[in-house]
Amino acid sequence: MTNLHPDLARVIISAEEIEARVAGLAVEIETDYADVERVILVGILKGAFIFLADLARELQIPHIVDFMAVSSYGKTATSTGAVRLVLDLREPIENEHVILVEDIVDTGHTLNYLYHTLQMRNPASIRTCALTRKDRDALNIPVDYLGFEIPDVWVVGYGLDYADKHRTLPYVAELKPEAYTK
Ligand code: IMP
Repeated sequence: MTNLHPDLARVIISAEEIEARVAGLAVEIETDYADVERVILVGILKGAFIFLADLARELQIPHIVDFMAVSSYGKTATSTGAVRLVLDLREPIENEHVILVEDIVDTGHTLNYLYHTLQMRNPASIRTCALTRKDRDALNIPVDYLGFEIPDVWVVGYGLDYADKHRTLPYVAELKPEAYTK
């Protein structure tokens, strides 16, 4: 890879690999939801917006898009994993088929919180989709549609950021540890 930003150690998932996998995930979802009237794709801001945009455009079944945003209290190993809702859905989801779309599952606290929050609203069904999941000891949250299992490092690009940087790179890359402290 030429012109890799000096903050980045290496590309983990290329733009071509992402494109192929997103198309594959869309086919899996189309197969599973072939008989439903529509699906609600719930993107978790900010990180999922690029993945969701590509996934939604691939999806050949009726669907609508909505968003939620959360903020987490701390990201350290000792943090409680407490998550706070900062933006809610615009529409009710009762009797709807919902797919939660995440950029990355790290500890799993975000997905766990949102899954249970939405489950209380009586959707017809709820499943989870994540572009990436870190290979680490995390909450055991099932990811029904998973793009890529990645190493337990900080990654940026394709929606993922570090302090709002590198979010719009077309690939997913590992951030150098020394770039965390800049
Ligand atoms: P979890 O609640 O620990 O699973 O973390 C999920 C959220 O943390 C994601 O939606 C991201 O916003 C953020 N996050 C976790 N790991 C990374 C990473 O490597 N790069 C960018 N964001 C990350």
